[in-house]
Amino acid sequence: MSIRIDPPMAMLAELTHRCPLACPYCSNPTELLAKETELSTDAWADIFQQAAKLGVLQLHLSGGEPASRRDLVELVAAAREAGLYTNLITSGIGLNERRLRALDEAGLDHVQLSLQGVTAAMADRIGGYKGGFDRKMHVAEIIADIGFPLTLNAVMHRENLDDLPATIDMALRLGARRIEIACVQFQGWALVNRAVLQPSREQVDAAKKTVARAIETLKGRLVIDFVPPDYYSDFPKACMNGWGSTGLNITPNGTVLPCHAAETIPHLQFENVAKRELSDIWYDGAAFNAYRGTDWLPELCQGCDRRDIDFGGCRCQAMAVLGDASAPDPVCRKSPGRAALDALLNEEVQAVDAPEFVFRR
Ligand code: FES
Repeated sequence: MSIRIDPPMAMLAELTHRCPLACPYCSNPTELLAKETELSTDAWADIFQQAAKLGVLQLHLSGGEPASRRDLVELVAAAREAGLYTNLITSGIGLNERRLRALDEAGLDHVQLSLQGVTAAMADRIGGYKGGFDRKMHVAEIIADIGFPLTLNAVMHRENLDDLPATIDMALRLGARRIEIACVQFQGWALVNRAVLQPSREQVDAAKKTVARAIETLKGRLVIDFVPPDYYSDFPKACMNGWGSTGLNITPNGTVLPCHAAETIPHLQFENVAKRELSDIWYDGAAFNAYRGTDWLPELCQGCDRRDIDFGGCRCQAMAVLGDASAPDPVCRKSPGRAALDALLNEEVQAVDAPEFVFRR
């Protein structure tokens, strides 16, 4: 059966892997790319033009820390020139009033500020950067002053999930229109630190109640998106809304990926924008077509009424937990891999001595 391929709506540009923070749940790969391998300003500008031509509407400028790129303002201007909606995903470190005003003038549409904790002690410990929290709060004030629409991106895990009510309060205090409460997904550095980051079932249950209450009471004031901890769910998430369906990622050196963790699937070969047009990679690239649609799904998923809801779940999670990217996501209650996931979960949450964080360095 031939698959209908629509153009992507969103593109995540990982401008750099450099970052002043060292969060142990960073979604970057554990093999970070060096500054010398990063694409030039002109190369990114060309990609933005290609992306717009391909049909991309939203550009997420990410990293690492995108503010580590000295040409960030030029990159935003180039993206706007291409007609893309621009969202800056930042820790705030490396931004100041002068740069933020220049970004505003260049046409930046939206800022997504990451939050490592609601106190300096927690935030600076998780980010591995002393003084980071105070700088972030200062940047948040400037963002509000300029009037950028702001989303607070709170990454939650065992150490800070109990601070969820205070986290939501902080979003209100900072004037955010939206908060994304994202429980850590175990890819990249988070996979290395899974045993330390995995919340308990009690924490997850309490968090769900807090979120439900807040959605009700803050209706009209704050939009709340909740990404629950995957391992406690009964069914998998529709990762990337389905592989190669709506979004793509570009790494700092121009490699084009169907998702941020795709390089953990060893048999896939990824192409680079230096060698092939973005549009050709999207429509014809072998890696993009490997898990596109539902025809490739195993028999178990083919007969499931959730087949067109979650598309078998996350390929990278099947790879990480089961060593088989073609298997149903082990989060699924119907999957034979669920037993392996439950065993991991029990072992990690019951461990008496939690290991120390391995910080991203
Ligand atoms: Fe790669 Fe889910 S992170 S498919």
